[in-house]
Amino acid sequence: DWVMGDYISEAVAKIREQVGTDEVILGLSGGVDSSVAAALIHRAIGDQLTCVFVDHGLLRLNEGDMVMEMFAGNLGVKVIRVDATDQFMGKLAGVSDPEAKRKIIGGEFIEVFDAESAKLTNAKWLAQGTIYPDVIESAGKGKKTAHTIKSHHNVGGLPEHMKLKLLEPLRELFKDEVRKLGVELGLPREMVYRHPFPGPGLGVRILGEVKKDYADLLRRADAIFIEELRKTVDEQTGKNWYDLTSQAFAVFLPVKSVGVMGDGRTYEYVVALRAVQTQDFMTAYWAHLPYELLGTVSNRIINEVRGINRVVYDVSGKPPATIEWE
Ligand code: XMP
Repeated sequence: DWVMGDYISEAVAKIREQVGTDEVILGLSGGVDSSVAAALIHRAIGDQLTCVFVDHGLLRLNEGDMVMEMFAGNLGVKVIRVDATDQFMGKLAGVSDPEAKRKIIGGEFIEVFDAESAKLTNAKWLAQGTIYPDVIESAGKGKKTAHTIKSHHNVGGLPEHMKLKLLEPLRELFKDEVRKLGVELGLPREMVYRHPFPGPGLGVRILGEVKKDYADLLRRADAIFIEELRKTVDEQTGKNWYDLTSQAFAVFLPVKSVGVMGDGRTYEYVVALRAVQTQDFMTAYWAHLPYELLGTVSNRIINEVRGINRVVYDVSGKPPATIEWE
């Protein structure tokens, strides 16, 4: 709209004034904030911006390709994609404690990002998708929800001479404003209104030790769940169940249970479905999804994802259960 269009020209002018002819690096995660920051900064300075997209192998199905298609493809943004799956899986081998996993993923993320950034020797600025609630949050105590890349602040392993200055064009915006800005900048609605996704990704949705095989199964189960949520419209509200829930995802349980298939028995893994409704993510209700929807998702996962023979639905509120299972 008109007001947002005005906002964009002001923001663009401000970014141009700040960085002049300097080069800027931005860590693109595929999340809403870093994506909108990238689109805005690209609008302002074009090829002076280089994005670094670290794929830790714990993203959702096709997420890496979609990020590349949208930014490198559609918007013409310079993006360096780093596939660090093996490196992350190696570090995570044998580790099952949730906080230890978070630390490893966060730490490794910074290392990979820094190593890649250090190659961009002309860069003078580090851009981040910090939004107003992050500013407030880090003014208090650091929470576990703080995004890795946002708390990175140039203290990692970048060479001394780089000493990047911080560029945070979304610092004054609330989430809903960031979303409107994203749409106005040409990002797909679907992407901009996505549910939140934790920094450690599927790493905290695979209970215990993370393995690539588990991640591959979980990605497919999760994609089926999300696809059916988007497809199923609630008659009372006219909205689909993806939009009616605040967060929804599949969780991989590394336990095997018995099933039957044809004449034989199977002994395979379990997937739990989690869907919640919440305002602030501090408390949450489990979503009363229609039985038909749950049935379709369960059938599809069991039929289409070989290796999973049982699907359960999580009916726990927060508190005492958290939204994530780890
Ligand atoms: P819980 O599970 O604590 O989650 O009820 C509340 C919200 O925080 C997200 N979450 C995280 N986000 N890094 C993140 O960036 C994390 O380690 C992390 N753990 C939880 C969770 O997805 C939910 O939206």
